[in-house]
Amino acid sequence: MRDLQGKVAIVTGASGGIGEATALALAQAGMDVALAARRADALEAVAQRIRALGRQALVVPTDVTQRDQVEALVAQTREHFGRLDVVVANAGVYFRSPIHELTPEMLERSLAVNFYGGVYLVLAALPHLRAQNSGHIVLVTSMDGKKGLPPDAPYVAAKFALSGFGDVLRQELHGTGVGATVVFPGRVDTPMIADLQVPWISAKISADKVGKAIVKAIRRNQAEVIIPFQARLLYWAQCCAPRLADWAVRVFRLAGWETKTPPRR
Ligand SMILES: NC(=O)c1ccc[n+]([C@@H]2O[C@H](COP(=O)([O-])OP(=O)(O)OC[C@H]3O[C@@H](n4cnc5c(N)ncnc54)[C@H](OP(=O)(O)O)[C@@H]3O)[C@@H](O)[C@H]2O)c1
Repeated sequence: MRDLQGKVAIVTGASGGIGEATALALAQAGMDVALAARRADALEAVAQRIRALGRQALVVPTDVTQRDQVEALVAQTREHFGRLDVVVANAGVYFRSPIHELTPEMLERSLAVNFYGGVYLVLAALPHLRAQNSGHIVLVTSMDGKKGLPPDAPYVAAKFALSGFGDVLRQELHGTGVGATVVFPGRVDTPMIADLQVPWISAKISADKVGKAIVKAIRRNQAEVIIPFQARLLYWAQCCAPRLADWAVRVFRLAGWETKTPPRR
């Protein structure tokens, strides 16, 4: 997928944040883009920006927790553009709850969006990509899918699940001409964590940076993207000794806080 010019992508969660930035980065690389999320007006605003870049955009209001809607998204994109080359499963919701207060409903809701939402897109797109022996699948998970941060258990569980699914997917696709990349961003400056304060060491990066990294990963068929560099340090600590990474989470207050004043350690 070195040359993206004239090719077609689907991006879910494209009404803002990382999804919007990725859709724009793909359009800048010469792709036409189908934009999916629930808010049609926000998608239309992104579509206007893509058209201003000289590329085509298709707005498909979609709830990714509904499998029939995700299948319709893929069908409508292929019908409209006559092809499909890249899918980016990016739609997500952040759920925080200490495990002792966790309800099964919260966990189910997190899995519905953050895990099944991505899986439905893969299942709908895969037969077409495999039949044409080319294409690329991107799963946007989170650093929370490499190292769990308290009190994010419902989110962490779903992101680990999607990361594991992506790890197997990439291996099963070996030699088929279809690539797969799992993306693990640290903290990103988007509406999702607008109310969350974070320490300097995990300062929020821009959504544009993640969007550009995704385009690069598609071109290079990268297995994984862990961004930014500090997130990779935490991952290496976790690989060496989970308790060392637990210590770093506590000492640097990596879980963040919602008030203006940092909590006591
Ligand atoms: N921000 C971070 O720090 C961070 C870090 C690591 C990973 N991530 C991951 O990056 C991805 C994008 O997050 P973001 O930071 O860009 O957050 P965001 O600005 O809140 O965007 C989330 C997107 O997901 C869409 N969405 C939510 N529920 C949906 C549903 N049921 N069906 C379809 N679309 C749905 C939202 O659109 P509608 O409301 O219009 O449906 C929105 O476009 C997520 O998977 C998130 O977990 C974010």
